[in-house]
Amino acid sequence: MSRKILFAAGLVAALMPMGAMAQGNADAGKTKNSMCIGCHAIPGYKSSFPTVYQVPMIRGQSAKYIEAALQAYRNGDRSHPTMRGIAASLSDQDIADLAAYYGTN
Ligand code: HEC
Repeated sequence: MSRKILFAAGLVAALMPMGAMAQGNADAGKTKNSMCIGCHAIPGYKSSFPTVYQVPMIRGQSAKYIEAALQAYRNGDRSHPTMRGIAASLSDQDIADLAAYYGTN
């Protein structure tokens, strides 16, 4: 008795959601946020430099907004000194990844 079992070409359901962001990678952003969590992860946290200042929540804001904000800090359109210093160290890829990680699409 011969028996052939034919498997239809495996339908591997891609469970990974395809992000709407062109290049941002949330997993990569997760590894790059270690320098953000000191301020942005703490609800109600206030920075004490240069003035006492309420740190905005960034998680859950639109990814496009976060990306635009970081680019604005980096190029000087936004002038907050702390965030400018931080954004200056970020590449376009870093910004896209962080936006994908923190933002909603
Ligand atoms: C030393 C504290 C500190 C650190 C570290 C920090 N931030 Fe910020 N961030 C702030 C403060 C304060 C503001 C508000 C500045 C302003 O009003 O322009 C801000 C604003 C922002 C905004 C704009 C939010 C909005 O609602 O407009 C984004 C986006 C942001 N930060 C992302 C990041 C990311 C990503 C990192 C890590 C790479 C980071 N920040 C690290 C203190 C910090």
